[in-house]
Amino acid sequence: MKILVVGGGGREHAIIMKLKESPKVTELYCTPGNGGISRYAECFDVGATDIDGVVALAKQLAVDMVVVAPDDPLVLGMVDALNAEGIMTFGPNKAAAIIEGSKVFSKELMKKYGIPTAGYETFSDSASAIEYLKKQNSYPAVIKADGLALGKGVIIAADENEAVEAVKSMIDGRQFGDSSANVVIEEFLTGPEISVLSFTDGKTVVPMISSMDHKRALDGDKGLNTGGMGTVAPNPYYTKEIAEECMKNIFLPTINAMNSEGRTFKGCLYFGLMATPKGVKVIEYNCRFGDPETQVVLPLLDTDLADIFTAVYNGTLSDIDIKWKDESCACVIMASGGYPRSYPKGIEMHGMDENGQADGVFVYHAGTKYENGKFYTNGGRVIGVTATGDTLRGALDKSYAAVEKISFDGGFYRHDIGKRALEAK
Ligand code: AMP
Ligand code: GLY
Repeated sequence: MKILVVGGGGREHAIIMKLKESPKVTELYCTPGNGGISRYAECFDVGATDIDGVVALAKQLAVDMVVVAPDDPLVLGMVDALNAEGIMTFGPNKAAAIIEGSKVFSKELMKKYGIPTAGYETFSDSASAIEYLKKQNSYPAVIKADGLALGKGVIIAADENEAVEAVKSMIDGRQFGDSSANVVIEEFLTGPEISVLSFTDGKTVVPMISSMDHKRALDGDKGLNTGGMGTVAPNPYYTKEIAEECMKNIFLPTINAMNSEGRTFKGCLYFGLMATPKGVKVIEYNCRFGDPETQVVLPLLDTDLADIFTAVYNGTLSDIDIKWKDESCACVIMASGGYPRSYPKGIEMHGMDENGQADGVFVYHAGTKYENGKFYTNGGRVIGVTATGDTLRGALDKSYAAVEKISFDGGFYRHDIGKRALEAK
């Protein structure tokens, strides 16, 4: 199989490295890719949201499959355009990707089909939203932009001032463009967070090994929300009982609900969950692999990923036995100084070999550029330093030992990835 992966972050690097293990895969391409990916797959400069460009590239390369990894091309309908040309894909079509593309849609879906989630109201004018906040008078309040916002569209407001400010800048100031024309205000939930990515062909749903993200920029869950500063797998809060509860109350009902709505979901459906004192509730759905969850989940996969992708496309997922290694995995993100706000690019990186790797770990590149044998920073999240081990402690020790050897000016990372997971035992 010749496979083209669309995207250019650590998640895409992880997908490519797993596909590389498949004896069926002969050629791997990535667009736009990044410095690290370019050491393992041929990269092109067609942007990840350029639908016509990706269709043309797929035809030119005569690929057998295109894996559309990021949210925005999925929400824009890249899969539909590729399928219209008879090209096999991995990823949901536009009708199904709305489960991530619109929080108003996903909240209404959950309400209609009785899937547990935080209570909420939807608003399109700031005056009614503010009136509602004043009436509820319950803080922290959770305010979410309806559409895609690079993981930055959720504000946890500590008091009325912050909440009013958030509503005004989202609805009136169009902080996230049309994505914040509508907002969802929801009940604040507490409990450990659990990410469960799943493979589904619309009939069968197979949860992958669970993981835990660390969204805040700084140690102790301080600082701004980011795309994710590190992950561990498996997530110890995802017990056998909780897994059963999720399958019965959340995973199957969601697949069935999407079918009932005429929006059959095929691809990777990501369940962002919170184990609250009143049971597990859905915080969000994503229509794709998580980043950096994929970097800790796929290394533990013990089944041919190309076979799984093909089965999802063909609707034969129930024929495959998907296996996982009995190990732990940890990923520590090294980010550019200033991230998630503004940050410099083009800073030389030290401590990695000619493939952008380091001893004892695998370095997934998220935002790097490769030039004349050197790596330079080229994004907010730069690399994800990842290790597996018999125990989580072992995996974390290996990751952090490598992190200390890699450096670039201004770079920073969290020192407490996996701390909450270790405390669960
Ligand atoms: P989301 O992008 O919807 O996953 O939200 C980003 C982060 O905000 C989540 O990972 C949670 O940490 C937090 N969050 C979102 N919704 C809620 C909620 N209803 N209650 C408490 N925290 C939340
Ligand atoms: N790490 C969270 C996400 O991919 O949305």
